[in-house]
Amino acid sequence: MTTKFPERFLWGAATAAHQVEGGNTNSDLWLLEHVDRTVFMDRSGDACDHYHRYPEDLAQLAALGFNAYRFSIEWARIEPEEGEFSCAQLEHYRRMLAVCKEHGLKVVLTMHHFTSPRWLAARGGWESRDTARLFARYCEQAVAYLGDLIDVACTLNELNLGILLRQWGFLHIDDAILKSPWRAEAARACGVEPEEFSSFPFCVRSRSRDVLLEAHTLGRDALRAGRGSFPVGMTLALTDMQAAPDGEEACKRAREESEGVFLDATRHDDFVGVQTYTRQRFGPRGALGPAPGIELTQMGYEFWPQALEATIRYASARTKVPVIVTENGLATDDDLRRIAYLEGALGGVARCLHDGVDVRGYFYWSMLDNFEWIFGYQPKFGLIAVDRKTQRRTVKPSARWLGHIARRNEF
Ligand code: BGC
Repeated sequence: MTTKFPERFLWGAATAAHQVEGGNTNSDLWLLEHVDRTVFMDRSGDACDHYHRYPEDLAQLAALGFNAYRFSIEWARIEPEEGEFSCAQLEHYRRMLAVCKEHGLKVVLTMHHFTSPRWLAARGGWESRDTARLFARYCEQAVAYLGDLIDVACTLNELNLGILLRQWGFLHIDDAILKSPWRAEAARACGVEPEEFSSFPFCVRSRSRDVLLEAHTLGRDALRAGRGSFPVGMTLALTDMQAAPDGEEACKRAREESEGVFLDATRHDDFVGVQTYTRQRFGPRGALGPAPGIELTQMGYEFWPQALEATIRYASARTKVPVIVTENGLATDDDLRRIAYLEGALGGVARCLHDGVDVRGYFYWSMLDNFEWIFGYQPKFGLIAVDRKTQRRTVKPSARWLGHIARRNEF
């Protein structure tokens, strides 16, 4: 069965500033990469040098057949010190947005994708109520410069990430984060107490949830009030949560805590960004991890492209706002498995559309092999490979495969 996708459906690939730009030295995560007892396997360094090489990357994306690009702008560059905004950096991003337009790429812009300015982390970061207001001020400045070139805006990327990682057993309890040596070292480097230093991926959940939700609301309102006119929403990490025998209660509880609360907060938004990679099964005592015998990706996730259909349906039914798949993908060295994954995932999107679910776009994560946070450069999510020494790009077959579908707008 061939499904014709809606006219104006967004077909794109996604990146985030810190993961691809390189040299993001004023950010909190750069600092955390460089402390002695860092949890990062690599340092981001030059990343993909996308900060300078974006013209060739955008030309490539458009040539492959895509019509949209999702990326983030870097707060640490735009507001290097509190209250000091850099026109030069805003101008840099304005040129980048303009180049998207020259190539016929719609701009899906994320205001915050995990990294924050160092000064913000050192004044309580995402655990401090004041951050919501500071985030809104940054959004206001950015939209005044860029708003007329934005097609879709995402406030914060994956507000619910921390809670989800904790449920999966990746991040420990709040207390362990507070007492971690890396937090203490980073705080010392900024001249503050460990208590005062907080970065987004490692913030203390019990203190940050309401700050994040408020930041989203204030940021959204600032974006709406500024230059241009475009839909605004948040993006969420959504997993296909499944109950194993006797796991119904635990599954329901986990889902409410890490997804439900956030989905309900999209009530006054224009869309919800769904970001899905796999499923997670729950037993009576919580997440079970991968089922024996199932193929795993380089991240140790189950190869489970069906997850996307489940999360789109769940998000759409719960929020009643349009869905954009702002991230979906897998890390693998075997590009044929990427194509198989894409086939599975897009089949799910097509079935959703067929059933009248309002899905407005699909963005593969990621355009480039890039800096996968604490896991460094080993996981390969990209449609385009990047040579770590020469920065040479090599288009993978999956990029051509997906670009072809994008161009035809049917699957
Ligand atoms: C994040 C990306 C990340 C990807 C793959 C998402 O949670 O938004 O920054 O690279 O997952 O792990």
